[in-house]
Amino acid sequence: MSSTTPQDVLATGKLNLRAALIERIGGYMTAHAIGVATELGLPDLIGTGSRTGAELAATTGTHEPSLRRLLRTLVAVGIAEEPEPGRFTLTGIGSQLRADSPDSLHNFARMFCHPIFLTSWQSLHHTVSTGERAFDHVHGMGVYDWLAQHGETSTLFNEAMSEESRISAGQLAAGYDFPATGTVVDLGGGDGTLLTAILTARPELRGIVFDSPSGVAEAAAALGKAGLSDRCDVRAGDFFQSVPGEGDLYIIKSVFQDWGDDEARAILRTVRAHMPAAATLLIVGTVLPETADTAAPVAYFTDINMMVMTGGQERTEGEFRALLAETGFTVRSVGLGQAGPLSVIQAVPTAAA
Ligand SMILES: C[S@@+](CC[C@H](N)C(=O)[O-])C[C@H]1O[C@@H](n2cnc3c(N)ncnc32)[C@H](O)[C@@H]1O
Repeated sequence: MSSTTPQDVLATGKLNLRAALIERIGGYMTAHAIGVATELGLPDLIGTGSRTGAELAATTGTHEPSLRRLLRTLVAVGIAEEPEPGRFTLTGIGSQLRADSPDSLHNFARMFCHPIFLTSWQSLHHTVSTGERAFDHVHGMGVYDWLAQHGETSTLFNEAMSEESRISAGQLAAGYDFPATGTVVDLGGGDGTLLTAILTARPELRGIVFDSPSGVAEAAAALGKAGLSDRCDVRAGDFFQSVPGEGDLYIIKSVFQDWGDDEARAILRTVRAHMPAAATLLIVGTVLPETADTAAPVAYFTDINMMVMTGGQERTEGEFRALLAETGFTVRSVGLGQAGPLSVIQAVPTAAA
């Protein structure tokens, strides 16, 4: 017979609720712990094997008792395991922090735990109170202007975007019904990760990676490494001014969340003005459900991160449809989750619909 009383059940329930809230409050501690561990290279040092805290402290030149406490915290949040006292391995989640992992989020972790993000987030209150971007409030300019002046961080940002893109790029390349021939233009295409996946899967297609000068800084080298230099051009420009006019398919992936509605409309109008009437536009990105839920917290993290960093926002299908209708596009299809965690909205110039 159980000796548990209803009061015990109530107390346990309350304790669980308290622990659940305190864990969430400690979210920033998790981010800092992951950021420091990644900067120190701990995931690569542990690799597929195991290392003691003492070994890791000796290799990284860190304070052993403090490093061991960092490692135990990583165990507590599911990044590492401690199979015997003082010895650590990586979990499946933590293995993604290794720089040499094929699904690596190493640079993504370094970027999102970088001081330019963390200091901006400290001004979330300012953003919520005023609607102004915390990044600009703290750094005195927009994030892309800042990156253009800080080459090393810009390279890290481009690598982070590339890592984030890899899964959805592969899924889009494999799953989307691309035209038999022609030119695919990736607007805001960064280092060309998406076009690399598409052109590798579709040898008959050509490509153009279009981005700001700092955005495309790594693209030529990345495309060269993939053996695609002869099938893919790299163009630097400003999608508020002009975009390449010779595309058959225009892709704009993970870009609109950076911008408010006025800027999003301006980008769409530029694309509409320069793209051939028979060309197609693919917007690849998050499509939020009409009401918030717990199913995909990353979408809401991205949304609020954009509020802090760029003044942008994630959008619902209805919001995308309205932007496209206002700028002369007709939506042909909406493929929710068609590119990994991301969705694909296919639109054509309205006159050609
Ligand atoms: C969030 S990143 C997405 C990069 C890439 N499409 C991906 O999915 O990984 C947004 C991109 O927009 C580019 N961008 C920002 N402002 C731009 C502008 N005015 N003209 C062209 N590209 C711009 C940035 O350089 C960056 O590469």
